[in-house]
This record gives sequence, C-alpha cells and structure tokens, in this order.
Amino acid sequence: MKGVILAGGEGTRLKPLTLVTNKHLLPVFDQPMIIHPLQTLKNIDITDICVVTGGEYIADFMRFLGSGSDFGVNFTYKIQDGPKGIAHALLQAEDFFKKHKVVVILGDNIFEKISVPKEVFDNSYAYVFLKEVDEPQRFGVATLDKNGNATHIEEKPKRPKSNYAVTGFYIYPNDVFDFIKSLEPSARGELEITDVNNWYLKQGRLKTIKIDGFWSDAGTFKSLFKTTVFLANKKGFDSK
Ligand code: DAU
Repeated sequence: MKGVILAGGEGTRLKPLTLVTNKHLLPVFDQPMIIHPLQTLKNIDITDICVVTGGEYIADFMRFLGSGSDFGVNFTYKIQDGPKGIAHALLQAEDFFKKHKVVVILGDNIFEKISVPKEVFDNSYAYVFLKEVDEPQRFGVATLDKNGNATHIEEKPKRPKSNYAVTGFYIYPNDVFDFIKSLEPSARGELEITDVNNWYLKQGRLKTIKIDGFWSDAGTFKSLFKTTVFLANKKGFDSK
C-alpha cells in the first residue's frame, strides 16, 4: 500500500519559525513534526511513501529522511511549485500512486491512533476521518444526518453547523486525480481538499469514520504548544 505526506505550504501561522525552515521539520517535543504522520502511515502498514514539499527545503527533508531505510520505509520525493493548495499538492503524487488507492496525510496532523477498516482499500469510496473539537471554525466542518453520514462539508465556516472537524487524513479512489485536474482555485487561490470531499459526497461516494484519542493540526502556536505538552506528558517527561 502507498501513502503520501503533504508537507508543502508556507506555514504562515507559524512565522517567523517558518522563515527559518519548513513547518514539518519544526520540533514537536523531541522530534521533527513529520515523524508523526510518518508513524501514522506505518501504523497502518504503509511503507511506500511519497513526500510532497516545496522546493525551498527539499534538501533538508532528504538529509533527515534519506531513502527511508532508517525508518523502515521507502521514500519518493515530489516538489510542489508554490503553495497552491492541498489538492494541488496531492496532484503531484499522481505518478507515484499509479492505480493504487490514494492514502493522504497532512504533514502537520498528529494522531494518537487511527484505525482503518480493511474494506477501505477494496472499494471505490472516499473516506474522511472526523474528530469532535472545541474550535471547529479552524477546520473543514462536516454536517451529519441522523445516521452519521455527511450531508455537506464547509471549509472554515464562521458559524459551524457541527463540532465535527474533517481531519487531515483522507483515503481516495484513483479517480481523485482526474477530478483535481478539473478543479478551479478557490477565492484564496488554492485547490481545496474540501471541494474534493464535497465532490465525492455529492456522488454518494463519501464515507465518514469518527476517530478517538488525541488529534491535532500543529499548524498554529497554540496547537503546536498543546501537542508538545501532550507528547511530553505521554513520554513521562519531567521538566523539573
Ligand atoms: O488539519 C485539518 C485541516 O487541514 C482540515 O480540516 C481543512 O479542511 C484543510 O483545509 C486543512 O486546513 P489548514 O488551514 O490547516 O490547511 P493548511 O494550509 O495549514 O495546510 C495543511 C497541510 O497541507 C500543510 O501542513 C502542508 C499541506 N499543504 C498545504 C498547502 C496550502 C501542502 O502540501 N501544499 C499547500 O499548498
């Protein structure tokens, strides 16, 4: 099975740290951020992994991650020319996936645990993974019907209709790339992953899975700090 870690973008919300290096190489407690999405993929037996990032820090990623042999995986690297959105970053991995099912994780997403039912890899549905959060305005937010099926997903709504954030872990059938090629940039000039998810939803091909345990998107100072504290506590770190 194959997976992609999307590690491009500008990391605007973490400036000035991201003027020094790429967001996903910043420390989260005792390791660079990208170790966490890498571990999440390994936990579901994905060891053939593509890393997509901008050109600026590609050498730093390669210096740290190398071929993947130190981590028990095999890395392929792809460059995204400019921060043109999550769906645009994913498109850079089209050749890597060939006909495989497309497993995607955002490089700033840290999951304590995630489990993926086996049938996910043998059908033509797309899957999003939802987590109940206190500040849904920061995320893609799924409205659910009484059976728990998504009826709509809104990107960073001012007035969220639920507390279910769409996390940065997605599984798509291979036709995702054809759809991304037909997408127009949003008002903020990006190819939006939420448009991709809504396209599957409209066709009745989107399934939702609710997750348990700690989850964070470490892309702001508050969430980076919260995640650092969570990991330090989990590892029994004593700062005294
Ligand atoms: O974390 C979950 C959220 O991630 C979702 O709920 C939202 O629907 C989704 O849009 C996204 O929101 P963010 O505002 O957190 O996205 P951000 O721009 O921070 O990008 C998240 C990751 O995607 C980033 O760590 C690297 C990758 N990325 C992003 C952009 C814009 C790229 O690889 N290339 C890009 O051009």
